[in-house]
Amino acid sequence: MNISTISNEFSLSFTTSQTVFNQLVCVERWDETADVVSFRFQATEPMRFDYKPGQFMTFVLDINGEQACRSYTLSSSPSRPYSLMVTIKRVTGGLVSNYLIDYLQPGQSVRVLPPTGQFNLFDIPAEKYLFLSAGCGITPMYSMSRYLTDTRVHADIAFVHSAKTQADIIFKSSLQTLAQSKHYFKLCYMVEEVTTDSAWHDENVVHELGRLTAENLINLVPDLAQRTVFLCGPEHYMQAVKHILTELNFDLSHLYHESFATAVKEAQCQVLQAKSHAAPPSANGFMLSIGDKTRLLSLEQTLLEGIEAEGLPIIAACRSGVCGACKCQVVEGDTESTSQMTLTPAEIESGYVLACSTRLKSDVRLVL
Ligand SMILES: Cc1cc2nc3c(=O)[nH]c(=O)nc-3n(C[C@H](O)[C@H](O)[C@H](O)COP(=O)(O)OP(=O)(O)OC[C@H]3O[C@@H](n4cnc5c(N)ncnc54)[C@H](O)[C@@H]3O)c2cc1C
Ligand code: FES
Repeated sequence: MNISTISNEFSLSFTTSQTVFNQLVCVERWDETADVVSFRFQATEPMRFDYKPGQFMTFVLDINGEQACRSYTLSSSPSRPYSLMVTIKRVTGGLVSNYLIDYLQPGQSVRVLPPTGQFNLFDIPAEKYLFLSAGCGITPMYSMSRYLTDTRVHADIAFVHSAKTQADIIFKSSLQTLAQSKHYFKLCYMVEEVTTDSAWHDENVVHELGRLTAENLINLVPDLAQRTVFLCGPEHYMQAVKHILTELNFDLSHLYHESFATAVKEAQCQVLQAKSHAAPPSANGFMLSIGDKTRLLSLEQTLLEGIEAEGLPIIAACRSGVCGACKCQVVEGDTESTSQMTLTPAEIESGYVLACSTRLKSDVRLVL
């Protein structure tokens, strides 16, 4: 596969603005498991990074001459603010995960969008926490656990992580160290297959064999009803957990989840340059105006499709209303959105929408 070299150039522009690109330098990388690697990033000058535990940032890469964007949760904690960490699992046949794991080395730089995301500790207040994760869904929970144990004298945390084998448990030793040193941090690993591993015998960590069930969840976390649940993992796991919580009569208004999943087509990102290539618009639609460009959009087409069809530059990482990269402002007209994730109330009030998740309800004028 002919993949272009990651640039060693570095220039810093890390601000809180959603529209600014930032260059970060990879300073360290290490294997977490056989197919998961963590990368640590810094600025060239010492810098405190400001983000919320659980948030993600979107990488904007040039692979084979094409722009490719993917979001990765910050597995680091803002309580240790001078570097950022992401933890990436190889996806079979996946473009960006394999590219970063195969090619990104210390000293090289990457372009990212600023951290964002509503699945975070600061925007979801809780008295007592239950972190439920599987596989790579552990990344936001790790950041939140680090933050809580770094900053609070006593944070009541129950953490149940599911993995295929013990060897697949990401952050295993550092989480076990937390469990040993903080009596209020209750850690349980659920594994589907047992392998020989001395950590299995760690008395500070509960180990269970098999998949999470209603019975073992209530045994592990008897005060479940008093907790706020943070959930992240593969779709089938998250569906199973929602069924379990429903079976246990858990109040689902205290359940918060993050999905990493995006459809294949949706996960592809392009910053399109000036080329117009859209299918002929349906007569049944509304006019979209951006600057001096005007286009008829059908009722089914998203703003993103219209912007791309006009060849205007826009970043779209997830294409499903999760990452916030495609934010733009409606200055005239009505729209309907299926997602407002990552937008603040002030932004919504000012007319900001996510282009990938928004359709026209009238003729609209847009600012990118
Ligand atoms: C908010 C958020 C946070 C996230 N945090 C993390 C994290 O902390 N760690 C992490 O590892 N991931 C995380 N992800 C997932 C990450 O963004 C990527 O989706 C993941 O790395 C896969 O990207 P990829 O480019 O490797 O795979 P893609 O190239 O997007 O492929 C995805 C799948 O589709 C298949 N595929 C690709 N092209 C085709 C095709 N033409 N035909 C058929 N099948 C095809 C691939 O085989 C693969 O199975 C997060 C996602 C979101 C939205
Ligand atoms: S592309 Fe991610 S929210 Fe629109």
